Amino acid sequence: MKIDILTLFPEMFKGILEESIIKRARLSGKVEINIINFRNYSKDPHHKVDDYGYGGGAGMVLMPQPICDAIKDLRTPTSRVLLMTPQGRPYKQSHAYELANFSHLILVCGHYEGFDERIRSFVDEEISIGDYVLTGGEIPSMVVIDSVVRLLEGVIEEESHIQDSFHENLLDYPVYTKPLDFEGMKVPEVLLSGHHENIRKWRYEEQLRKTKEKRPDLLEER
Ligand code: ADE
Repeated sequence: MKIDILTLFPEMFKGILEESIIKRARLSGKVEINIINFRNYSKDPHHKVDDYGYGGGAGMVLMPQPICDAIKDLRTPTSRVLLMTPQGRPYKQSHAYELANFSHLILVCGHYEGFDERIRSFVDEEISIGDYVLTGGEIPSMVVIDSVVRLLEGVIEEESHIQDSFHENLLDYPVYTKPLDFEGMKVPEVLLSGHHENIRKWRYEEQLRKTKEKRPDLLEER
C-alpha cells in the first residue's frame, strides 16, 4: 500500500513513521508513506496557502488551489482521497478494514479555521475520528494510518485481528501474563487448564459480558 499525506506540518509525523510496527511495515516494504507539504504546490509568490474568509469571521481559511493541485498531481485511477474533518463519517474499525483494501490512500489534513468548501468536491470521502475538534487533521491522519497499516497482510499476526476489540462488534477478552498472583488478584483457573475448548468458551463469554457492561450500543448493532 502507498499512503500520501498532505499537510502543512510534516514534522508532526516523524514519531509515528520512525517507531514500532509502522516503522517495521515501512522497512519491510508493506507500506510506503510519503509526507507532502502542500505549501510546495502554492502558486502564490510567497507560497501562501490561506487567506481571510469571505463574509468575515475568525481565523484563516485554506485556499483550494494548493490542496487541489496536490490531489490532481498524486491521484491515480486506484487512489482513495480522504479528507480529515469533524464533519466526516465517524471512524470505526469496520472502516479501517475497508480502507485496508485500497492500494493508494491520499490523506488531506486541514488546519486553522477550516478549508474552502470547494475542496470537498476533490475528495472521495470525509472522515471524523470523534465528536471533538482538534487543531488540525494531522492527529486524525495518524489514527487512520495506524489502524489501517496494522491490518495489511504480514504486518502483524493474522490471529491478532480476530482477537481485536470491535471485531464482530465485540470488545476484546481479558488477557493475563506472569505472575499468577498479583497483589492477591489471581489469573482465572480456566486459562491454566490447557483445555482449549473451555478457554475458547470462557473468552467468548467474557467478550459478551464486557461488551454488555461497557458498550451495550455495540451489541445492538450486531
Ligand atoms: N480535524 C479537526 N478535528 C477533527 C476530528 N475530530 N476528526 C477529523 N479531523 C479533524
